[in-house]
Amino acid sequence: MDAERLLQRLTEAGQSHLLQFWDELSPEEQAEMSTELESMDFKEINGFFKSAMELSGHSKQETVDNRMEPVPREVLGSVTRDRELLGDWEKEGLLRISQNKVAVLLLAGGQGTRLGVSYPKGMYDVGLPSHKTLFQIQAERILKLERLAAEQHKTECCIPWYIMTSGRTMDSTKEFFSQHNYFGLSKENVVFFQQGMLPAMDYNGKIILERKGKLSMAPDGNGGLYRALGTQKIVQDMERRGIAYVHVYCVDNILVKVADPTFIGFCVQKGGDCGAKVVEKTNPTEAVGVVCKVDGQYQVVEYSEITLATAEKRSGDGRLMFNAGNVANHFFTMSFLKDIVNTYEPQLQHHVAQKKIPYVNTQGQLIKPDKPNGIKMEKFVFDIFQFAKNFVVYEVLREDEFSPLKNADRQDGKDNPTTARHALMSLHHRWVLNAGGHFIDENGTRVPAIPRNGPAGSVTPDVNQNLKDGTDLPIKCEISPLVSYGGEGLEKLVHNREFHPNLVIDLNGVHELVKNGI
Ligand code: UTP
Repeated sequence: MDAERLLQRLTEAGQSHLLQFWDELSPEEQAEMSTELESMDFKEINGFFKSAMELSGHSKQETVDNRMEPVPREVLGSVTRDRELLGDWEKEGLLRISQNKVAVLLLAGGQGTRLGVSYPKGMYDVGLPSHKTLFQIQAERILKLERLAAEQHKTECCIPWYIMTSGRTMDSTKEFFSQHNYFGLSKENVVFFQQGMLPAMDYNGKIILERKGKLSMAPDGNGGLYRALGTQKIVQDMERRGIAYVHVYCVDNILVKVADPTFIGFCVQKGGDCGAKVVEKTNPTEAVGVVCKVDGQYQVVEYSEITLATAEKRSGDGRLMFNAGNVANHFFTMSFLKDIVNTYEPQLQHHVAQKKIPYVNTQGQLIKPDKPNGIKMEKFVFDIFQFAKNFVVYEVLREDEFSPLKNADRQDGKDNPTTARHALMSLHHRWVLNAGGHFIDENGTRVPAIPRNGPAGSVTPDVNQNLKDGTDLPIKCEISPLVSYGGEGLEKLVHNREFHPNLVIDLNGVHELVKNGI
């Protein structure tokens, strides 16, 4: 397309400023910019901007408090309140896995700005004794689960792993998997696909230039999943493999139970087409979205959308009334997913995220603003709850299943590499205790499971407290997912044995690390 026609197209779309430095660009830069601009549908982008701003205006004016209802008990399964059913649900899930009907889908297209590393978050090493990355931990959980299902049902099976990346993370993610031999998984069962990108815009709907010849682009949110599933032909791939159930999760939760058979079995037995895993919100002011009904339809309501009075409301049992904390961990049947991709996706609206977006000003200087100067437009993975015909909710324990990696260690002591590492090691510590193992201190005295002086080393240690104290965990224990997916199978390794507080269990056996170097 020649520059004149490009200019005409952009002028019609009110975006002609994008070519203000055209004459200063080299022929290569012009060609690159022209290719980028040609591939964009400005009418659609301007429409997204308009409706995202309208949606954001509405949600600022209206609180949803009076229209909210908590999740009713009949659609809720709980690891603490339904203990007698857990075995059945797990069996059901393992059966479906053994029949090759279960796939997992990883949302790994985020930019990880808060963590602040230049590579994809899944490649992050939180400093475990093994130095495994988040990707490796997840891959090994998948492998182990395949083995457990195969053993139980005397068959071969696989859990295909679909990994959504963005334009920015695709190449490095693929290369990392290839360098590590797909962590023992078969290459053909790890499918990468790319989510869409959208331009960042100023508050007047003008697309922002990050360089003279380059638009500022960002992934279109984790809800960009549904469009990408269609455009990248992932739904077809799933159908070809006979997938019936999909578990969707985020890259940054170190405790994630990938393809959790108990969650899948629960959703299947309840006849759910769409399910959400939640953890109990116990603190009214915790900034977590809650799963609830609004005007009779399921959705996630963000903390900022409700009043404190509503956040503080309690039920008869003393728990918060709106306590189903969303952990972005979902179950979809294949037919539900197909309906979303083929029918409902265009109805999903973008949300507005106000950001500080570096830009070139009219003089061509790069400016790094110190307050938000524009918006990124994002869809959310949970925006589709409203379309479910039989929505189900599964409540799990936070200390067993949820510890997201969001921030770098220097920040506020929350959701960072230290808390993630501690959460995993505390869980594995408890697995050893539950399997009949014991820890001893340097004098050979057994370390009590529940300490007398504070939370460190307790059965449910407060990892954030440890971090604030500047102390590390007194007991460091890491168990390879290849040995145990969820605490099972450890008795034969640890029962009635005593260990020093630096323990690693992997396929090579049980090792006590001499050096306290974690
Ligand atoms: P977050 O919203 O926490 O974003 O993503 P992030 O990119 O990890 O971190 P910040 O906000 O830039 O610091 C939650 C999950 O959704 C995925 C992320 O990769 C993470 O697994 N995600 C987010 C996508 O897959 N695509 C997106 O466009 C945004």
